[in-house]
Amino acid sequence: MEHTAHDGVDAVHMARAIELAALGHGRTSPNPVVGCVVLDASGHVAGEGFHPYAGGPHAEVVALREAGGRARGGTAYVTLEPCDHTGRTGPCSRALLEAGLARVVVAVPDPTPRAAGGAARLRAAGVAVETGLLAAEAERVNAEWLTFARLGRPHVTWKFAATLDGRSAAADGTSQWITSPEARADVHRMRARSDAIVAGVGTVLADDPRLTARPTVRADDGSPGRIPLRVVVDPSGRTPPGARVLDDEAPTLVAVAEGVTTPRGAGLLPLPRHGAGLDLRALLKELAARDVVSVFLEGGPTLAGAFLAQGLTDRVVAYVAPALLGAGAPALGEAGVATIARAHRMSFDEISRIGPDLKIVARPQLAENSREK
Ligand SMILES: NC(=O)c1ccc[n+]([C@@H]2O[C@H](COP(=O)([O-])OP(=O)(O)OC[C@H]3O[C@@H](n4cnc5c(N)ncnc54)[C@H](OP(=O)(O)O)[C@@H]3O)[C@@H](O)[C@H]2O)c1
Repeated sequence: MEHTAHDGVDAVHMARAIELAALGHGRTSPNPVVGCVVLDASGHVAGEGFHPYAGGPHAEVVALREAGGRARGGTAYVTLEPCDHTGRTGPCSRALLEAGLARVVVAVPDPTPRAAGGAARLRAAGVAVETGLLAAEAERVNAEWLTFARLGRPHVTWKFAATLDGRSAAADGTSQWITSPEARADVHRMRARSDAIVAGVGTVLADDPRLTARPTVRADDGSPGRIPLRVVVDPSGRTPPGARVLDDEAPTLVAVAEGVTTPRGAGLLPLPRHGAGLDLRALLKELAARDVVSVFLEGGPTLAGAFLAQGLTDRVVAYVAPALLGAGAPALGEAGVATIARAHRMSFDEISRIGPDLKIVARPQLAENSREK
């Protein structure tokens, strides 16, 4: 049965399950984030859970464990269709059946052929299954993994800092710092949630960034610590051997054009050329093969323009400072737009204040997907 009218009580519990799912951000790759709430037969919350890290227990199992015998005859709210396959853990569909749930409410169906089928198995066993409740919200919390599962490439968030007049550096090339310490701390939190941090060689040469998440986020729940992979897009191998991005704080890959070698052999990722740059789709495919589900693209403007032009940008995070420069590099370089009708149209997802700055999160409108070829 499809969910049409949102039952208020159901929506409250699914919203909580979505909140729980978000607690797994940055830990679960290459798995999704999932949250689950279990009610007993009289409608009281008996268990809650989320998937804490890849290889850890699934959300349903955590919630069922907490609920124990109280789950019998009850309802489970799950943000993603319960899996029906045995991976590092057993199928959640079976765990829900064994617990004796009468009803399972699912927000988003599982798009992967390997894990899908949980809803069908539950229905076949006589459990009332409903899908689609708060689907848009549940899609958003799991945007990275759903992009990875549906398109076979990582989800890309492009982040930039700019002045109110859209400049990302001053006329002399200086850009440190456009935004406040509070905004920069937020960037570090977003880096820590990502599997890979990507920057162009122009940024490495101009700013010598470390591209690490500081302070390094360590899990406190016994899960394996995770440090985001750093990736420099550097067609001709211009990254200086002493660049900070090559230090020991995190692993680094330098993506170069096939045939290019640099003095530093380790960590080179040769890729086919695409016009004046590299084949960015091939880059994302290579990263997906390394279990990178989410990419945090830190620019600069030239590389960001190339990602947008190729339809490979899924989210934009802009930190806008209340400052004006009037001259200097624009936040975004050439992005394949010659006329206003071809503008990359976005929708605002979130607008908030961070210290004195604005944080704006936007997503391409659906038609943008047609650019992806
Ligand atoms: N405010 C911000 O948020 C922010 C963020 C980052 C950077 N910045 C500023 O931006 C400036 C640097 O920007 P930038 O545009 O010069 O550098 P960039 O985008 O970091 O790197 C440009 C280089 O990337 C390579 N590249 C370009 N398109 C490519 C493609 N399609 N595939 C593969 N590689 C490609 C090219 O290398 P080759 O020329 O070697 O082929 C190009 O020179 C600095 O002033 C920095 O401070 C600001």
